[in-house]
Amino acid sequence: MNSPRWPDLVAALMPLVHPSPDLVVRQLAEGEVDRLIGCLHRWYPALAVAEVRYMLSPDFYTSQVAFAGHAPTFAERPYVMVVAERAGELESCVLLGAEEEGRVLSGTMTVVSPAAYGRGLGGIAARTLTAVARAIGADVAYALAELDNHASRRALEAAGLMLCAVVPGSERKSSASGAVVWVAEAMYALSLAPESARTLPHAATLTPSVAALVRDLWGVEPRTTGAPEQASIGTRPTGVDAGCRLVPLRDLAAQQAAEAEGLVVLGLVPGSDRHIVHGVLAFGFDALYGPPADRTGAGAWPAQASLPPRLAALVTRVRASSEPAAAVAHRHAAA
Ligand SMILES: CC(C)(COP(=O)(O)OP(=O)(O)OC[C@H]1O[C@@H](n2cnc3c(N)ncnc32)[C@H](O)[C@@H]1OP(=O)(O)O)[C@@H](O)C(=O)NCCC(=O)NCCS
Repeated sequence: MNSPRWPDLVAALMPLVHPSPDLVVRQLAEGEVDRLIGCLHRWYPALAVAEVRYMLSPDFYTSQVAFAGHAPTFAERPYVMVVAERAGELESCVLLGAEEEGRVLSGTMTVVSPAAYGRGLGGIAARTLTAVARAIGADVAYALAELDNHASRRALEAAGLMLCAVVPGSERKSSASGAVVWVAEAMYALSLAPESARTLPHAATLTPSVAALVRDLWGVEPRTTGAPEQASIGTRPTGVDAGCRLVPLRDLAAQQAAEAEGLVVLGLVPGSDRHIVHGVLAFGFDALYGPPADRTGAGAWPAQASLPPRLAALVTRVRASSEPAAAVAHRHAAA
């Protein structure tokens, strides 16, 4: 089978400039890397310590980024950079990353020139994510935002993404004293699968902690009727964070194995589990598992009162999720 390739994105990006016709939103061209890196240093010096500090390295672009007018496979070059330009000056950029052969697209990082803050460019970046995800035929678009980054969270929600997980210790930033600290991020996702093809999980294939999250986070009661689509699939790595794993809600044994390893459920990703049921394409949830908060070194959680209620509730749940005692004993015995 041919590996899927990046399509031409011109038509997908064109409508994003509405209602700012003086703005141009386009894919970065090959000869513009140094110019963009210069902008990133000026716009957001904190990028130098962030998880995505590779965005400041020319090598990243020459080996990983699909430039305008090129059509590499997702495997060859998993990233595209989309920039917004006005009167010949770059004003913002968003880095998008294709995972799982383009079935998942992440909004890896948005940076706006501080001179242009509050004028809608963050919102355009979030809509760029969903427009490109549709253009490449992805099942899911997602992005992470630091818990206290209200503008990022709002931009993602306005673009239709929904809170689906809290990932402790997934971002690095400088503290007031200059030391690098790890902070948690909220994960937002949008399922692009047709509504009619989305499946509800069956209670028989969920651990108690996953079943509770299905109810509390998505307001959905797991099915108890009909046969469960039980399958042995196992875990998959995810670009969300190196320590995290995706586990389909169809695979009870894989959920149990993740919990026995000491991982905890951080959230549920809608529509990322593409599978066939009775010859028909269906899209189920994956559970996002990761190390518990107290093992990630995550510090500096924002005050609960500063967060919207749904996010505050998920933060409380994730911070309270600790490694099961049996897994701790197993880990100590193995050490
Ligand atoms: C976060 C960032 C991308 C936002 O860009 P922006 O162009 O200022 O955002 P927008 O003008 O599109 O605003 C997006 C939403 O946030 C709201 N908003 C903007 N600033 C806000 C603030 N300080 N507090 C709360 N909401 C804010 C806007 O009103 C808008 O919501 P609305 O659509 O409901 O009106 C930009 O500040 C930035 O580049 N920051 C540094 C890098 C960074 O943090 N990147 C994100 C990594 S997760």
